[in-house]
Amino acid sequence: VRPVNTPNTEAAWLRTPLAELLGIRYPIVQGPLNGLNTQRLTAAVSNFGGLGSFGAHGLTPDALKAVIAELRSLTSKPFAINLWVSMEDASAFDVREADFDKSLAAMSANIRQMGGTLPAFAPYKPIRFADQMRVVLDANVPAFSFICGIPPREILDECRARGIRTIGTATTPAEAVALEQHGIEMIVASGFEAGGHRASFLRPAAESLIGTFSLLPQVVDAVKIPVIAAGGIADARGVLAALALGAQGVLMGTAFLASEQSGTNPLYRDLLRTGRAGSTALTKNFTGRLARGIENELMQFMNRPDVPVLPYPLQRQLLRNLTTPAEKRQQSEWLALWAGQSANLSRNPDPIDLLTRLIDQTAALAPSVSAWSRRVAARL
Ligand SMILES: Cc1cc2nc3c(=O)[nH]c(=O)nc-3n(C[C@H](O)[C@H](O)[C@H](O)COP(=O)(O)O)c2cc1C
Repeated sequence: VRPVNTPNTEAAWLRTPLAELLGIRYPIVQGPLNGLNTQRLTAAVSNFGGLGSFGAHGLTPDALKAVIAELRSLTSKPFAINLWVSMEDASAFDVREADFDKSLAAMSANIRQMGGTLPAFAPYKPIRFADQMRVVLDANVPAFSFICGIPPREILDECRARGIRTIGTATTPAEAVALEQHGIEMIVASGFEAGGHRASFLRPAAESLIGTFSLLPQVVDAVKIPVIAAGGIADARGVLAALALGAQGVLMGTAFLASEQSGTNPLYRDLLRTGRAGSTALTKNFTGRLARGIENELMQFMNRPDVPVLPYPLQRQLLRNLTTPAEKRQQSEWLALWAGQSANLSRNPDPIDLLTRLIDQTAALAPSVSAWSRRVAARL
């Protein structure tokens, strides 16, 4: 590992309230990558001095307990566990066999073609957010981040009592204000460039689509707590732009998908590393909730107007019956390739090299950019 060339690690842009609250050296967060994060990746980022996150939305409480134990064995530095406050669409409980059969029929020929077997209907059995949260609280994790809502007051009170730092996610200025009013300590402002699911909770995601360049300064103006920029950031230019717009830190997701330690399929990693990711689009039809991924044959197929889509997360579970055999057959055109709009900037296979370069390349300019941004904002 190349030594990090920071002329002054006491620089003001590093000693921000964000870095202080989180106890991190560099204000760079590896975003949670539900399903594709690994304990190794999260720990590597935390050990470097950033904040590694682990997206645990899909995990049972027991699996989550094991992940936290492993993270603790790999790092003594702060890390974040990420959950979704809203685990399902309310209508998931009402889905009947006939609804399931209709959605299955739309993809059954493709499942067979990939050598998969057709699944049988089973009523929705939820993993409960409250049960996952009990594990997070009892483990006294350093930080808890979340999307798709605001946790109930008792949970936030317990986080505060235990010293667990809270990081909410906003896709609009109104959501940022709501998070601050509920006592959340830090906010991720997530522009619609971001890979994966939209985190919206006040209005439907499709009506909450704001790009990072517009969202970030508005969120910074709307709240007093530290703001972390997310969506489309993949290199030092993005970090400096985020600081200029008033962020105290940045969060990157797609940039880490190319890394060796990520849980990404090797085929997909190869597309990223060689700049062949193509373009991305938002679709509701992979999972039932709006999310950004690479436009491929699967997306074209699922976006046909006549495809009946089950509520979240039933559609997600159903689609796995097609993507799992496709993965076995190495058919990258038939995988759900979650990625943000800067996928083609996300090529570095080594997360430590990525972070080292980011710090090296921003170190000289970052202090003046963030100081300048504060001065300009004060005069607006
Ligand atoms: C595969 C994948 C899974 C993700 N899962 C989560 C998640 O569970 N929780 C969350 O807060 N964000 C999740 N995200 C969003 C990222 O943490 C991050 O906010 C986003 O990737 C930032 O935008 P970028 O992709 O342009 O870097 C996910 C993103 C991807 C690509």
